[in-house]
Amino acid sequence: MRIFIEKDYDAMSRRMAQIIAAEITHNPACVLGLATGSTPEGAYKYLVDWHKQGCLSFQDVLSVNLDEYVGLAPTHDQSYRYFMQSNLFDHVDIVPENTRVPDGLTKDPAAFCAEYDAYIRSLGYVDLQLLGIGRNGHIGFNEPGDCFVKETHVVDLAESTIDANARFFATRDDVPKQAISMGIGAIMGAKKVLLAASGAEKADAILGSICGAITPHCPGSILQLHPNVAVVVDEVAGSKLKAAGVSVCG
Ligand code: GLP
Repeated sequence: MRIFIEKDYDAMSRRMAQIIAAEITHNPACVLGLATGSTPEGAYKYLVDWHKQGCLSFQDVLSVNLDEYVGLAPTHDQSYRYFMQSNLFDHVDIVPENTRVPDGLTKDPAAFCAEYDAYIRSLGYVDLQLLGIGRNGHIGFNEPGDCFVKETHVVDLAESTIDANARFFATRDDVPKQAISMGIGAIMGAKKVLLAASGAEKADAILGSICGAITPHCPGSILQLHPNVAVVVDEVAGSKLKAAGVSVCG
């Protein structure tokens, strides 16, 4: 793992965006595995800026998103499809048909999940997978549990995840209780992974993922088995890594 500790959220975002832009420049027809949430928002702003300056094109890029809430339409302002449109897709030249986000309204979740995995396999898996991390160590919406789930699947969200995401909804009761999430198989099948985190409340999840036991009780810990992971954190999210003596880049 290459670990970058940046001074604040903006520096973390810039570093993330540089890694993503480098991937697109190196391989213009790459497959990006995209994430939502507060963590990648700043990186998407940088990518949009660089696109507007004429430095970066998404014309041949394909994207697959990690997850989506069950029951939210793409037009719902808290759906992850809406997030992707408003934070990235509507502002760059990506071809709409080349973007995939799980369908939160699917009538047949099992068939949908199998098709999503088949699509990712048909692309030869993701070239660069972005990941944020939950306070409980979840990646995508792979919540802590007794086993890692390999396939795309429907997840019952942990109470702590519902608490953490309630900030985006009018009330806690409005937070969906389930999501569709890419499984550990597709995430670990990616050629490269970019894990990012910001804020003190992520410090334990980052420490557990990078230095802790590899266990489904901290889903991010499986990344220790991946051969090509870059970790980009701000100083507070990375504070426990420094204390644990982990060697960092730069
Ligand atoms: C959410 C998402 C994850 C995200 C994580 C952290 O619930 N499903 O994909 O990485 O939790 O979110 P944030 O970046 O807003 O802290």
